[in-house]
Parts: sequence; structure tokens; C-alpha cells
Amino acid sequence: MKKIALVLLILAVAASFGFAQRNRTLIGIAMPETHVQRWVKDGNSLKTFAEKAGYRAEVQWGNAEQAQQNQQIQSFLTQGAKALVVGCINDGVRSVIAEAARDKVIVIAYDRIIPNSADYDYFITFNNFKVGQLQGQSIESALNLKSATAAAPKYVTLFAGSPTDGNAFFFFDGAMSVLNPYIDKGVLKVVGPYPRTSADRANFQRIATENWQAPIAKTRMENLLSNDARTVTLDAVLAPNDTLARAIIEACKADAKYRTKLPAVTGQDAEFDSMISIKNGEQTSTVFKDTTKLAEAAILLADQVLKGRPVRIPGAVLASGDLAKIGDTGRKVVNTYLLDPILVTKSNIRVPVNAGFYDAAQAARITAR
Ligand code: GAL
Repeated sequence: MKKIALVLLILAVAASFGFAQRNRTLIGIAMPETHVQRWVKDGNSLKTFAEKAGYRAEVQWGNAEQAQQNQQIQSFLTQGAKALVVGCINDGVRSVIAEAARDKVIVIAYDRIIPNSADYDYFITFNNFKVGQLQGQSIESALNLKSATAAAPKYVTLFAGSPTDGNAFFFFDGAMSVLNPYIDKGVLKVVGPYPRTSADRANFQRIATENWQAPIAKTRMENLLSNDARTVTLDAVLAPNDTLARAIIEACKADAKYRTKLPAVTGQDAEFDSMISIKNGEQTSTVFKDTTKLAEAAILLADQVLKGRPVRIPGAVLASGDLAKIGDTGRKVVNTYLLDPILVTKSNIRVPVNAGFYDAAQAARITAR
């Protein structure tokens, strides 16, 4: 008799747990792609923090196809999600965001603005203009531009991120805010297309990289090396993120001119493969954006908004003044919370490791003597 009672009790507890689990508020997490390492980590971190906060969470990756991501978001809405955390691919996401708004579902744009939409109120990201400034400063110091002369100019070629990604414009403008004064003085010369800022859309389009695809960057670098850069030795390449930086370095390593000395190549995301490249003296720098902290902050934001509480995000500032432009969707300026990026080179390579950004095996390989 006792045995039956015990079995019934266990079944009842399991059923109530299952019911409670199913009954938890659902947060839908839509990440753009997996061909850029960092988004896999972002999606998993967001799910972990959402579940820790007592929510049910489902994460999907859109394979850089907006139509696919839209179907994933629609499925979250059908399942009754009360909040969406969206790292979009392009402005094709607007239609499902409008649907979410009609259903009074909270939408948080995650590390990529949802452009041309007035149907959401929150964006959480990094100070993307500063990300670019750090990339520019990395070139400034690697080439010692402060002491360079027009008699012996340094040479740089420019790459930008995807023209479908609002961040790419801020990254580029931040970098050029550092480099343009040296170009004006003639101590730094641009090889290839030179948009002074992203406002020069025609030339920006010529240096942009659709959907951050590494093969596109590699082919473009190979073409530059055989044409515009054939008769000069490049001292630096402005690469907007690590995936593209590694592709550009691959192209340079295949060119005899750079066999013993690579140009200084920038990056972003502190991806493990690029940290090894930096350790090996190939990639010059990356920009560490602690996306574990970003994920935690995004879920805190969702939780506070869902509960109608005042929004306070430790470690993030509400963008204001010039920085508010980062949250301008083109239809409205949304509440934009900015976390701080950090430049990482060989000399401070432990910063992302000490932040716990890698697993133990990866951390050991980055820090091994
Ligand atoms: C951007 C993001 C960068 C980089 C890039 C490639 O939106 O801010 O950190 O990951 O996408 O996916």
C-alpha cells in the first residue's frame, strides 16, 4: 500500500513540476547566425539566464536568413511568448516585430538595432562607436601614427561589416574618427575605396561585407592584394570583427610580400580562434564585448519590464546625447542601454579569460606560455 502511495506522490510531484514548467512565462530568443562564433554563445547564455530568472526560454538561430528567423519568431508568438530577445539579420524582421507589438509582447533588440521600426522600445548593446574608436586606436598605436610623417606614410585598407547591420556603420565611423586626422595630414594613406564616414554610402557599400561572410572578405582581400595594393606594402587592415580578420589574415599569409610580417589587423568579439591568433602574433587586436554580461543584462531588462518595475541595469548606461543616435531606428529613438567594450591585444590577453569568457580548456590554451 505504502509503495503505491509513494509512486502516486512522485507522479503528482512530477506532474505539478511539469505543469509549473509549462506554465512559466516564455521568453523567445532569436539569434541571427552561427557562422560567427559569438552568437552561439549569446543564445546559450540568454537561455541560461532566463531560466535562472524563473522563465521558460527557447532559443533559435536564423542561419543569416531573415525569412527563417521570422518563422522562428512567429513560432514563439504562437507558443504565447510574453517577451522576445532578438538579434536580427536585417530589417525584414519588422513584420514579425509589428505582430509582436499587436500582441503586446515585449521586444528587446539584442546587440543589433531593429531598423525602420516604431514597434518596440528597448535595445541593449555596447557602445558601438567606441568599439570602432578602439579599432582605430589599435591601428594608431600599432603603426605609431603619432610619429609618422608624410615623407614616409603608412598604408591602410578598409573593411566594414554587413550593410544590413546598423552596428557596422557605428563601428566604421568610430574607427574613422581616429584615422581621418592622420589621413588629412598625409601620414596615413588609404589603399582601395575610402569612405571618409559611413555617410558616403557608395564607397561604404564597396568596403562592406554582406552578412559578415568570411569568404566575401577573403576574396576581396585577395583582389586588393593583386590590384590596388600590388605596388605597396600594407601596414594595417581595418577589419570590423574577428571572423573577417581571420579571413583577411589568411589572404595575406598566401602573399609572399607578407610572409615574414603581416599588416596590423583589427577585430572584434574576442572569439577563441582570434585570441589564439593574437597570442601567436598574427591578429593585432580584438575588442572584447562581454556578451555574457550583455545576456544577463538583457534578461534583467526583460524581467523588469515584464514585471512593470523601473529599469535599472547595473553595468549599462542609458544612451543619451550623441550616443542616443545608436538607438535611432529611423522611426523612433528607443531606450538604449550600452555596455562598455575593451580593446584586447597580446599585452592584456588575460582580460576576457579572467572574465570567465571561455571554457577551461580554451582558457588554458590562451594563457599557456
Ligand atoms: C554585429 C555584432 C558584432 C559581430 C557582428 C558579426 O552586429 O555587434 O559583435 O558579432 O555582428 O556577427
